[in-house]
Amino acid sequence: MNYTSALPSWNCSNQPIFLRADLNVPLKDGTILNDRRLHAVQPTLDYLIKQNAIVVLATHLGRPTGHEEALSTKHLMPWFEQHGYTITFCATLDDAHTQQQTAPPGSILLLENLRFFKEEREENLAFAQQLSRLAGWYVDDAFGALHRHDTSITLLPEQFAKEKRTIGFLVEKELNLLNNFLQKPQHPVCIILGGNKIASKLPLIKQLMAIADHIILCPAIVFTFLKALGKPVGKSIVDDAALETARTILHEAPQKNCDIHFPVDYQVAQGDISGTLSIVPADQFPTQSVGISIGPESAQIFANIISSAQTTFFNGAIGFFDRPKTLQAMQSILTAMADAPGTSIVTGGDSLATLDKLGVNGITHTITGGGSTLAYLSGQTLPGLKPFSNQ
Ligand code: 3PG
Ligand code: MG
Repeated sequence: MNYTSALPSWNCSNQPIFLRADLNVPLKDGTILNDRRLHAVQPTLDYLIKQNAIVVLATHLGRPTGHEEALSTKHLMPWFEQHGYTITFCATLDDAHTQQQTAPPGSILLLENLRFFKEEREENLAFAQQLSRLAGWYVDDAFGALHRHDTSITLLPEQFAKEKRTIGFLVEKELNLLNNFLQKPQHPVCIILGGNKIASKLPLIKQLMAIADHIILCPAIVFTFLKALGKPVGKSIVDDAALETARTILHEAPQKNCDIHFPVDYQVAQGDISGTLSIVPADQFPTQSVGISIGPESAQIFANIISSAQTTFFNGAIGFFDRPKTLQAMQSILTAMADAPGTSIVTGGDSLATLDKLGVNGITHTITGGGSTLAYLSGQTLPGLKPFSNQ
């Protein structure tokens, strides 16, 4: 399906518009570590501001269990101010209501972290109605949260008439990118998968084997496959519930003309993830070590495969953001992708934060939501898209 934002046809001057964004940025001691998701919503935000709308901006931040000061959206305020926006922080919904009556056109009211309200995660109709009273229109530009059943993603848009709700420009762009990737990829297609969340990635692999010529498995997901094959993995992360699916995937891959590639060497940490690092051959995996990343020989082999691909797709960060020595392999993979002749796509918050940290330029497309991308590519109907499916 082709998803198109109806924003250009709206006349919303002086109207309050609810903009649900995914501003779930990494924060440390109140400082934003990577602002990619803030920049990503700017096309929609700037458009609304130029139209003189009053933007009621809302997001979740992290996974709080109640009010957690470290996850308050007020930590986002300096970013907006530094970028020239007129913005007011609303600590409560009552506060937002009051401010909304007098806010100047072209300004933003930033709501507190939606997940501070327990109803946000409960698909709660009363909460959806309460939020809907803050605006006359609704825009969903929270691509990274479309796979969630959070109230503001599923029930809230339904409180608005069809002609008063739409997706934003980021959701439109990222969905169309993924549709192009699924429907007309240039071959050879090489998919590189790392990171955790193995259970969410296996359906994706099953689906993508049909279009991928190569799938490169990296830590941590690769360890589940190795264990399924009876190979040593030391103390690495394994999803035991996924072993059977992993075996099926490996069995089906040749019939689908998909080569699955395993690393020939690994970077391991002794004892636990913070232990001393070393490189070991794959067949001599130490029993007391945890696999962290791949070794230089694998990085070279994978770079060669990547450089002959016309489409490359990466999901799932390899190594640890705050431990530079564990990021070397990820650097060579991303660099090979950026240098490869065709189209390169990197998805997921952690992957993109690492991409920026490593300063790799030249990736063709970046997609903000890792989990939502995986869900969409796996063929699932995203709960957040249902309110817009007939548009
Ligand atoms: C993300 O960072 O993956 C999205 O913002 C969704 O967050 P969640 O996984 O906590 O729902
Ligand atoms: Mg995430």
